[in-house]
Amino acid sequence: MCGIAGYIGDREAQDILLKSLSRLEYRGYDSAGLATIKGRSIQLVKKQGKLKILSADLKSDPIEGAIGIGHTRWATHGIPSDINAHPHLDCKGKLALVHNGIIENYLELKEKLQKEGHKFTSQTDTEVIAHLIEKFYSGDIVEAVRKALKKLRGSYAMAVIHKDEPAKLVGARCDSPLIVGVGQGENFLASDVPAVLDHTKDVIYLNNREIAVLTKDHVLVKDFEGRKINRKVSKINWDISQAEKAGYRHFMLKEIFEQSGVLNNILNERYKKGSISFEELKISDDEFKKFKRIAIVACGTAYHAGLTGKYILEDLVKIPCWVDVSSEFRYRNPLVDKETLMIVISQSGETADTLAALREAKRHGAKVLAICNVLGSSIARESYGVIYTHAGPEIAVASTKAYTAQLAVLYLLTLYLARLKKTVAASKLNALFKELKRVPALMEELLAEYKPDYNILAAYAQGFRKYYHEKHNKTFFLYLARNINYPNALEGALKLKEISYISAEGYPAGEMKHGPIALIDENPWVVCIAVKSRTYDKMVSNIQEIKARNGIVIAIATEGDKEILHHNINYLIEIPKVDELFSPPLVAVPLQLLAYYVAREFGYDIDQPRNLAKSVTVE
Ligand code: G6P
Repeated sequence: MCGIAGYIGDREAQDILLKSLSRLEYRGYDSAGLATIKGRSIQLVKKQGKLKILSADLKSDPIEGAIGIGHTRWATHGIPSDINAHPHLDCKGKLALVHNGIIENYLELKEKLQKEGHKFTSQTDTEVIAHLIEKFYSGDIVEAVRKALKKLRGSYAMAVIHKDEPAKLVGARCDSPLIVGVGQGENFLASDVPAVLDHTKDVIYLNNREIAVLTKDHVLVKDFEGRKINRKVSKINWDISQAEKAGYRHFMLKEIFEQSGVLNNILNERYKKGSISFEELKISDDEFKKFKRIAIVACGTAYHAGLTGKYILEDLVKIPCWVDVSSEFRYRNPLVDKETLMIVISQSGETADTLAALREAKRHGAKVLAICNVLGSSIARESYGVIYTHAGPEIAVASTKAYTAQLAVLYLLTLYLARLKKTVAASKLNALFKELKRVPALMEELLAEYKPDYNILAAYAQGFRKYYHEKHNKTFFLYLARNINYPNALEGALKLKEISYISAEGYPAGEMKHGPIALIDENPWVVCIAVKSRTYDKMVSNIQEIKARNGIVIAIATEGDKEILHHNINYLIEIPKVDELFSPPLVAVPLQLLAYYVAREFGYDIDQPRNLAKSVTVE
């Protein structure tokens, strides 16, 4: 949540910062701002609304300076407005600060500072940091920041500049991400790697409770006690082009189409010559054999991947497995201990609730294995072992390729454990490996059908919009499935809600008779995942129940299934024939695309849906 950028060098900071912020906009987009130092004064511009509003303003009235900070906001304290946008200043306008996170004790600090005479202009928690630094400033910005940090409770990453020290850019982090981009005669601060990749591939991942002091030629890292720390520079091995749209109308569409390639890479990299390897796994085979249960914890889409994980792990590894959303796990007394393998799943590796759940599990003695996309992220670093999904940067707020990549990793981990614990006969295991290897090609085939801009799903979405208006906006979506595709019903509904703001609910089809059936008349469109499986007949009965009550059915069925056509369904989506165990990643594709086309029909901002952010670094 919220993106931070900082620059110090010989070039004009404004455009560099705007470009960096454009790569961080997925983190928040309700307001944006920049501050630079020119001569001996701070120049500040901040605007409510998306970055393009700020950019337009700066184009007609630019600010100068070769040092600056920038911010793109996702509001927590104080409504989105020009005043609440970052950067924030101290009373005298000598320093400017941007912040990502939440200062939990800000009210208490604010009252104290106000009594001491500090004047606040915004409703944000952030502004207290600026005034605290002002209070402690006596000619050394780094010391003043350090003293201020000691007073803060909560999570934060921040960047600060002071007009009296125009050759220093200071950053600090505690629980929110911050990296340093190391350049030649210039250096950068950012919440995430894509923001600096136009300029450098050398980055330092700051750890919690670290301060970075950047001059144009040097980076100094200290801990909160002021001790110097040697931090190694990491090389980024992916390109900025991967964080661009490559001709697609939206990042979401591009990322959907990348999925077959991502799956192919995961399977080829990890499964070679009949054996599976996870280079960062760390947990030994002996340790794996001793675990009595598995706990999976995650948020949002990653949680849905985790739910699928439960089906496959229990089925093939014969180990009890439960799945929890991180924000629930962290506030109950979870029954995890050293006999529990805790799997945390997170695309960003920075989700605050998942990070807190991980720490809670560690306190209980559980070994934590992370499934993460972002290299060097907090969750990856704090876990005992990590399996990276290597899906490349995911920019669209609605997660797609990270989801199927998480599924692919869960399949591999399951097969690895099943082999280790001998819970599946060798011949069956081999057959399963073989089938799994087919999935990327099947997905490629499936995606090819949707390559033309106007395809069957785009047509269904168009039909939906018309119907929606005919029914005076009373139409909504229900997603029903059973067994291993039930998490996909939740994910399909989530995708639709996220980007098209249409009410959608995912339900296990067998539960329909205990409630959702009351919603069925001619209004809802019901997506029924009815691929060939052990529960196919049951799904067909559910379809009949819906049709008997005039519901509109979109069936997702297996290619070549003639029977489904006899059930009076309204729309058909086909997926290639595959073992039901491996159907979830294939079923996910049309679900993602359907949500995409519906949102496009309604003309919404697909990559940046309202109120959401890609990386939720606050509780
Ligand atoms: C946010 C995003 C979702 C994502 C969830 C978990 O809500 O909008 O797309 O699934 O966070 O994020 P993580 O990075 O932990 O997978």
